[in-house]
Formats: sequence, structure tokens, C-alpha cells
Amino acid sequence: MDCWKVKKLQVQNFRNLNKDVFDFSSGINCIFGQNGNGKTNLLEAIYLLTNKKSFRKNTSYSQMINIEGASPEMILQSVFESNDKQVSYSLRMTDGLEERYLNNTFEKSKTVSTSVFINPFDSYLFHTSSTFRRQWFDSHLSLINKEFKQVLGRFQKAIKFRNSVLGIGGKNTSTQLQAIDEQVAEYSSFLTQKRYDFLQELNQHITPTFKAIFSEEHRLQLDLDSMFVHWDKKKVFDFYRHQEPNDIKAHITQVGIHRDDFIFSFDGLNAFEFCSLGQQKMAFLSLIFAYIELFRYKFTSYPIVLIDDVSGELDSQRWKNLIQYLETKSFQVLITTANENFGKELEKIPNSKKFLIEHGTLINHE
Ligand SMILES: Nc1ncnc2c1ncn2[C@@H]1O[C@H](COP(=O)(O)OP(=O)(O)OP(=O)(O)O)[C@@H](O)[C@H]1O
Ligand SMILES: [Mg+2]
Repeated sequence: MDCWKVKKLQVQNFRNLNKDVFDFSSGINCIFGQNGNGKTNLLEAIYLLTNKKSFRKNTSYSQMINIEGASPEMILQSVFESNDKQVSYSLRMTDGLEERYLNNTFEKSKTVSTSVFINPFDSYLFHTSSTFRRQWFDSHLSLINKEFKQVLGRFQKAIKFRNSVLGIGGKNTSTQLQAIDEQVAEYSSFLTQKRYDFLQELNQHITPTFKAIFSEEHRLQLDLDSMFVHWDKKKVFDFYRHQEPNDIKAHITQVGIHRDDFIFSFDGLNAFEFCSLGQQKMAFLSLIFAYIELFRYKFTSYPIVLIDDVSGELDSQRWKNLIQYLETKSFQVLITTANENFGKELEKIPNSKKFLIEHGTLINHE
């Protein structure tokens, strides 16, 4: 199977980045630069090309287009390579219009590759917020399972509609709910099973991945915290019928898989309650790299790995562990840092390409 890597990238009118041509290595690429100079913007451009949306929450064309640019058009042009094959891929965006071209031919929706974005600041949110955890698992499962993504979208619409019916109230509420609950039950049963299966698959990779990166033996385990596990649609439907009087009184759907949670345990104890911040970050990084291994297992090719300033909270030994791990892998990595000490470790990676970005401009690369 092909493993497409981004070889060249040029952006026009995208955030603060200039029109420089980035010529990437198919291995490790280190992006240096001080705060606010454009490192994360560069990762965002690649993510946008490969995943068709930004990793930044609530961002749209109007935030992405260069505020000082004269043209209302934003263009990302790239060349991807796999073995000896090359393709060109570009994205043009104006307000309200987005077009993609593969080898200069209009492409409705396909991308050449997929990226996984690692922002270790997310570790804190992951461990403290159940909403973030749910979104993290759902979005990563959606990346590898299109059917899950579609059904999740339908479920979210159905719950929204259910809540609007409950919000309005009135004589026909019960009849309307009955019809919606048929759908909600079917989607809930399907999505819960997929979430459950996803965790079982991740669990096979997560403990070995932690050991492979940090050379320490710890047992990491993910569990789904849901009352709906292994419930068929009839059982979920009966549950909603039983819940109806409570929901009508509360004017909202009080219980459901939209509120389910995930438990991450470290040697049998809840990682959030038990682990130090550094250990939480190590556990979170192991989860993401376990996901990357699962991705490869499913598609026999790796995604592109975008790592945004990983250095905080990890000590220098852990940095070295992580860098050594990246060196053993065949995926393409873009790793940024504003931290001079971590930068010095990155500088030592043989055969990696180094880029320095200042005020959105590529100063040098080697
Ligand atoms: N639409 C835009 N047009 C022009 N500049 C923008 C736009 N959106 C964001 N910026 C600028 O991009 C810069 C931020 O870039 P980025 O987030 O890539 O920085 P960084 O190098 O990753 O910094 P840090 O090390 O702090 O994470 C900010 O100075 C911001 O003002
Ligand atoms: Mg940044």
C-alpha cells in the first residue's frame, strides 16, 4: 500500500506564512522559531490539505486568510510522494468556495494522505474534560471509520431535534419522541459498539507503545464508561420510552451516549487522579502513538505525524526517549519547538531536515 508523504508545500495568503517553498524530508522534519512566528500555522496548512479541516477549534476561512493579503483567495499547493510516485495536490479557498485539485484535475473530496496532529497541551484537557475526551475519541475514530463518522453525524442531528421537541413541549411531544427514539436507539447501539471495539483495538497497542517510547513497564488501559455497552437497539429504545416522563419534565435528553465517557487507567488507577502532569502527558502521547500504530494496522500505511511543541512537562530523558522512538519509525514527522533546549536535542537527529521560521518567512533549511 502507498504511504504518501508531503514533499513540497507552498502557501499563498495563508495566515502569516510567506510564499516560500518548503521542501520536506520523508522522515523527520524539525521546525524551529520563536513564539508567534508561524510554526503551528505550517502544521495547520498540512492538516488542512490532508484532513480537510483545521485542528484549531472554531476557525474558518476568514481567520485563515492572511489579514494583510491583497487577494481574497487562499491557495495551498503541494506535492506528495510515495515510493517513486508523485502527485500534485492543491486547495483554493475563497469566502464560501473551496476547491481541490489532484494532478490539476478537480477533485471533489479525496485527499492524498491523512495527518494526525499531536498537541501535548491537549493532554491537560484530555485528562480533565469528559467533553474533550469524547470529542477526541469520536474524531479519531471517525478518521479511520467513515461509517462511524456518518452515523455520529446523524445521531447528533437526532439528539438536537429530540431536544428541540422537548424544549417546545406540547400535546404531541410523546408521539414525536417515539419516532425520533427509533433512530436514536439504532444509532446509539451502533456507535457504542464501535466505540467499544475501538478501545479494545487501542488497548492492544497502548501498553507496548508506552514501553517502546519510554522504556518503562506500566499497564495502560482504556475503558468505555457507558451503560449502553452491548445493548441492542430494542433495549435502548425501551430505555428511552421509560425515560420519557423525566425528559419531558426536564425539557432535555438527560441520559444518552452523547454524555458517555472514557476512563484511562495507569497501573489500574485513574490516570487523571493518580499520575503527575508529566506522566499524564506520557500516557497521552502513548495513546496517540498507539492510535498511529492502529491506523497502520488498518490501512497498511502510516499517517503524516504533526507534533506541535511537545517539550513542556517532559524531562530531558523523556525528550530523548521520544526522539529515539521517532527515529525508529518510518512515518513522516513534522515536529516544532520554540524551546531552545529541546531544539538542541532535535538538532542532533541525523538525516532530519531543519527549518527556521521567522515572522512567517522560511529563513533557512538544511
Ligand atoms: N489570518 C492571519 N493573517 C496573518 N497572521 C495571522 C493570521 N492568523 C494568525 N496569524 C498570526 O500567526 C502568528 C501565530 O502563528 P503560530 O501559531 O504558527 O505561531 P508559533 O510559531 O506556532 O508560535 P508558538 O511557539 O507560540 O506556538 C501570530 O502572530 C498571529 O497573529
Ligand atoms: Mg505554535
